Amino acid sequence: MKWNTLCLFLVGLIVRKSHAFDQTMVASAVGREVVDATLQKIHESGIFTSDYEFLRRIAYAETKFGAAGLPVNERGGLWQIDDNIHQLLTTSTTVTTQLEAIRNTFNLTTFLTDAIYETPLESALAARLYIQHVQGTSVVPAAINEQATWWAFNYRTSSTSNVFEISAAELGVNDFNNCGSLGADIIFLV
Ligand SMILES: *[C@@H]1O[C@H](CO)[C@@H](O)[C@H](O)[C@H]1NC(C)=O
Repeated sequence: MKWNTLCLFLVGLIVRKSHAFDQTMVASAVGREVVDATLQKIHESGIFTSDYEFLRRIAYAETKFGAAGLPVNERGGLWQIDDNIHQLLTTSTTVTTQLEAIRNTFNLTTFLTDAIYETPLESALAARLYIQHVQGTSVVPAAINEQATWWAFNYRTSSTSNVFEISAAELGVNDFNNCGSLGADIIFLV
């Protein structure tokens, strides 16, 4: 587990160094590196508490990080923000502080009002804001089975928790494989 954490940290460093330009605000940008860079930005903003990898798992459950292109709802981006989520956020009175912080921190002055979620950052921010809206002062579910239940109940009601759990397991295996080969490169370089 500790090795895994270190490995993800090193992958993060490589990702940050190898990308000459920021794709988190490029409409329809896809891929694992883009997702990780997006989550890093949100983490660094300090606007939200830890999501226990929930956002990352949601992106994988919704779009497989865009590996097969953006399905169904291209407007919703990698996190597939739909009209239902958009409407709930627009009328929410419990996320006004975070919404203001998002608009200031990322200079997204019309975020939410403009209903634009094609870019990875805006899509992820909407998903995180929606989790905040539903949870209020309660913590974000941390265990995969809890996240799966939450997702099927609040986020993708047309699906089931089982779909999320299978997706999360697949993501874990991919991370491990990806990390294994990068780890070898790092050792070689050292
Ligand atoms: C913020 O966004 C506005 C509108 O897109 C732009 O005109 C302005 O230059 C941006 N400000 C900063 C500090 O990037």
